[in-house]
Amino acid sequence: MPYGIVSAAPAYNIKLEKVNNNLRDLDSLQRGASLFTNYCMACHSVQYMRYNRIARDLGWTDEQAVEVMSFNQAKPVDYVLTRMDPGVSEQLFGIEAPDLSLLTRVKGNDYIYTFIRGYYEEEEGKWNNKVLTGTSMPNVLEGLKRHATEEEFDQATTDLVNFLDYVGEPSKVERWDLGWKVILFLLLLLTLTYLLKREYWKDIKH
Ligand code: HEC
Repeated sequence: MPYGIVSAAPAYNIKLEKVNNNLRDLDSLQRGASLFTNYCMACHSVQYMRYNRIARDLGWTDEQAVEVMSFNQAKPVDYVLTRMDPGVSEQLFGIEAPDLSLLTRVKGNDYIYTFIRGYYEEEEGKWNNKVLTGTSMPNVLEGLKRHATEEEFDQATTDLVNFLDYVGEPSKVERWDLGWKVILFLLLLLTLTYLLKREYWKDIKH
């Protein structure tokens, strides 16, 4: 199934873990961006994002974003693209690693969270995933998990999903912040128009 099409029936029948990420936590987003670079960008892109936009939103300078996320290989204006050449993923894994720009929008944060944490060892050295059974994506966080405490792993996977949530809709926080101001403005306008109406109709008997 092509990405971007939401299937009516989910391909999994397990309960998803709830992720508790916070889009206002810039430290978490910065850690998530760095983890994404180190653990995911070998195969995945977030093709609609440019480094300079990420820099602006995450509180980095352009130079910092390019340094952290591309080891100074990219220009600030470049899109955030995988280091893997086209076609290689299909050769290695039998499938193109999907672009992750919009995956939190398509599948939800909890899905991504449970998926990246959902690997289990079927037999010695052979991993499967409880969300996407038989997935061709390797258990890329195995090393991280082995060397981290449970809390550190929870934090790292939350940071990763936080970053992908941000990437899925970079203006979400702005939208939230604007929303209540618009409502407040409309309420104020309602009060004023009501008072105006009372003023106009004051002397008219009806
Ligand atoms: C070695 C290459 C590789 C790396 C590194 C990698 N992935 Fe993947 N990923 C894949 C491939 C291949 C698929 C397609 C899997 C499939 O459809 O079975 C995939 C699929 C996915 C999917 C879609 C799952 C679905 O339900 O369709 C998500 C989400 C994902 N990866 C997240 C990540 C994250 C987050 C990281 C970093 C922590 C990461 N990947 C690192 C190769 C990789």
